[in-house]
Amino acid sequence: MTASQALIFPEQANSGQWIAVGTLAELFGQGDCAGVQVSGRKVGLFKVDDELFAVDDICTHGNALLSDGDLDGYEIECPLHAGAFDLRSGKALCSPLLKNTRCHQVKAEDGCVFVQLVTVEA
Ligand code: FES
Repeated sequence: MTASQALIFPEQANSGQWIAVGTLAELFGQGDCAGVQVSGRKVGLFKVDDELFAVDDICTHGNALLSDGDLDGYEIECPLHAGAFDLRSGKALCSPLLKNTRCHQVKAEDGCVFVQLVTVEA
């Protein structure tokens, strides 16, 4: 089982609720990027030092998963055309991106990672 397949609890998925998506070890045991599915939405999770970030996993430019991209500090570079987003704000940082991505709430408690989906456009 890959990190992207790990521990999805759709029955817990309601807007405004914190949803358990896996443990820190399961999600980040192999690296600092992981993809999960929450309430039918693909969410990319990123670990920068001890901080966690969650954004829409599908790039706003095309059909690529940001969780497959390269993480450099707070920037995630899309694997398809090298567009980059700031994980702290979702801001698109360079061409060919024309649209920011959506940031979600994420936290870790007792080694378990929880996501709260944000439904408002950034
Ligand atoms: S698909 Fe991400 S930059 Fe083009």
